[in-house]
Amino acid sequence: MSAYVISGGRRLEGCVSVHGAKNSVLPILAATILSGGVSVIHNCPNLSDVAASIAILEHLGCHVRREGETVTVDSAGLDRCDIPEKLMREMRSSVIFLGPILARTGQARVSMPGGCELGPRPVDLHLAALRRLGAEIREAGGNLHCSAPRGLRAAEINLSIPSVGATENVMLAACGARGTTVINNAAREPEIWDLQQFLNACGARVRGAGSSVIAVEGGIPLHAAEHRVIADRICAATYLSAAALAGGEVTVEGVPRAQLAPVTDLFTAAGCRLREEPHRVTLTSDGRLRRVPPVRTAPYPGFPTDAQPPVMAALTRAAGSSVFVETIFENRYRHTQELARMGADIRVEGRVAVVTGVPALHGAGLEAADLRGGAALVVAALGAEGESEITGIHHIRRGYDGLPRNLAALGANIAEV
Ligand code: EPZ
Repeated sequence: MSAYVISGGRRLEGCVSVHGAKNSVLPILAATILSGGVSVIHNCPNLSDVAASIAILEHLGCHVRREGETVTVDSAGLDRCDIPEKLMREMRSSVIFLGPILARTGQARVSMPGGCELGPRPVDLHLAALRRLGAEIREAGGNLHCSAPRGLRAAEINLSIPSVGATENVMLAACGARGTTVINNAAREPEIWDLQQFLNACGARVRGAGSSVIAVEGGIPLHAAEHRVIADRICAATYLSAAALAGGEVTVEGVPRAQLAPVTDLFTAAGCRLREEPHRVTLTSDGRLRRVPPVRTAPYPGFPTDAQPPVMAALTRAAGSSVFVETIFENRYRHTQELARMGADIRVEGRVAVVTGVPALHGAGLEAADLRGGAALVVAALGAEGESEITGIHHIRRGYDGLPRNLAALGANIAEV
């Protein structure tokens, strides 16, 4: 089993060009099904979740070719509408394929996506919305059997939670629904805007992404498109967290500064110096942070839940106590036990975690249990005294392309063994 071995305590200096956003690439790869043409997606990171999406596209009959950061998908040959359990289990967000398969073929069969490390990951909002669009969905034997015998038809969809995945699934299905679908309380994440850009490049008429109301004029025949995926704001937040704790001066480039505002505001409050340009952010830190006001995760543009674990790791040595409230997922504090093995003082009560700074962290043998929790362990190990070995790095590879290489280039002592 491979692992990261990190000797902490070294300052980090340099610039990271942030790779394409995992949470943008995944729905856009699913969207290539809609056109039946040859779409070219640039800035595709080399992640296991991207490989899982490509495996699903190939299973469905598409031809996919990767050349470096460019993935080409020819979906003309799509001749299936089912995703087997093995492929569904690879990646929780495979449910995003439901909408486009339905829109393209009028039927779909997928297994119920398993829960994941963050707790149950229900898809009730996805299914209720697709039913509103005219899909008949039967749950049997752990599978979802979906069909739209009379085709999909536009509807007004009211999401009780601004769910990112449900918003994306509805946008994709609505492209195949006659009439104009309106999504109220839509998620506002930048990745939703990126999906809108790709769909409109394919000839769709989608408006409002980034706001809470999105309108999709469906039933327009779509063609393939060429698209460059936006940069990954959560990866950027992770590198900033590493610099804040380890100390040094690190620039992340490619992410619009506004998308990092909740994280850069936090590190400013923690005593770091932030220099911000339109697509570049530089964080300077002496590694000695101070407590910050309570951090409540929230849907975009609030503090991103995905940045909570790495940012928490950065605050484990801050002077004073900082309070986190995780409002999005019910089990997103699994990294705290591992951080405690390094000497961190974190008390968890339900959705609240109180991080009280300690004078130093020490290296330890650590096990990543999920993607962003694993990233938190890497951040902490970089700021710890001594050596840490982190196993379970397959979780980290789901969302970080070239993490050891990029950190070593910044001066970290990290090796993959
Ligand atoms: C997306 O997951 C991201 N994944 C997650 O990133 C991210 O944490 C999350 O959005 C929130 O920003 C991808 O984009 C591939 P949600 P998603 O639907 O769509 C509940 C990472 O680390 N809910 O916005 O699954 C749900 O349980 C990953 O990169 C329902 O109750 O998130 C959660 O509590 C982790 N019913 C809340 O809504 C539903 O039908 C937000 O979930 C759907 C969701």
